[in-house]
Amino acid sequence: MNDLVKKLKITCPIIQGGMGNVSHVPLAAAVSDAGGLGTIGAGTLSQEKIKEMIQSLQSETSHPFAVNIPLTVHPESEQVLEIVKAAKVPAVTLSAGNPVEYIPDLKNNGIKVLCVVSNKRQAEKAEQGGADILVAEGYEAAGINAEEEQTTFTLIPQIAAAANIPIVAAGGVGNGSGLLAALSLGAQGVQLGTRLIATKEAQVHSSYKQAICEADSNATTIVGRPFQQIRRLLRTPYAAYLLEQQESNNWSKEEFLNKTDEDHHLIGAIEGKLTEGHVNAGQVSALIDDIPAVSDLFNRMMEEAKTRHHFLSSYL
Ligand SMILES: Cc1cc2nc3c(=O)[nH]c(=O)nc-3n(C[C@H](O)[C@H](O)[C@H](O)COP(=O)(O)O)c2cc1C
Repeated sequence: MNDLVKKLKITCPIIQGGMGNVSHVPLAAAVSDAGGLGTIGAGTLSQEKIKEMIQSLQSETSHPFAVNIPLTVHPESEQVLEIVKAAKVPAVTLSAGNPVEYIPDLKNNGIKVLCVVSNKRQAEKAEQGGADILVAEGYEAAGINAEEEQTTFTLIPQIAAAANIPIVAAGGVGNGSGLLAALSLGAQGVQLGTRLIATKEAQVHSSYKQAICEADSNATTIVGRPFQQIRRLLRTPYAAYLLEQQESNNWSKEEFLNKTDEDHHLIGAIEGKLTEGHVNAGQVSALIDDIPAVSDLFNRMMEEAKTRHHFLSSYL
């Protein structure tokens, strides 16, 4: 048992990444019931919807869970912070913005605060600001990424060397070997996004899950570089359209943001219209070829990590 699982009162060192508008209650409950930390992604959901989801998750599971608030993405993040305090949620993940001013108040309300960071400077600021846990995300990850485009493999050791609080590795993890690698780089657990999309409990369109299962090493792409809006997507017809428009300089940043907003994400991810909306997916898609139940996935990952660990000791 390590500090991460002790702090979060979980039994398995696997965290569900906040997934705006697609981390519904059944998936979060399945993750928490399997011993990990389930997460509701506030995304751009209405305040009413967030309250309803928290209540529903509280009745579905007795285990700890988190709410992810992407600070600069949710138009009413201050109000969402009030909601999570009133609901006394066990943990909050702050991403996409400077978390420092919000940490003390959340902690005073007994909430564990996880901060998503993408470089050492952000990690140091979050730790100095009182964060309980750092989630360090490499640009293999699905969705919005940092401009530095650092890989998880190089990012985790840098942050591990600088931090005195537990670190969670995000980006590129989908099996037991990835979990073990993250631990050996200095993390105490992993955060999964893409791998959890391809599970029985994820309530996304079957064509999204299927596309992840069929993905090869060329299956994801980055859009938005000309607008400093790095986003990793599955290489669908809609992603090709986005790339074509940005490369022919047809769009302003605002137009790009409109075409990659949450409505287009829902059209792709929930309605399964891969020519009309985008879907987030990480490079780890190339390693995914099945759609297990969350508990089976976690058991498999833990077993594989232990077996690989035992096996690798003979290498050294
Ligand atoms: C569909 C989807 C939506 C996401 N939305 C968010 C979000 O709203 N906030 C956030 O902090 N991260 C978001 N992420 C990133 C995940 O929380 C996670 O850190 C990332 O997916 C981990 O990398 P992986 O995809 O390689 O597992 C999203 C990921 C996916 C797949």
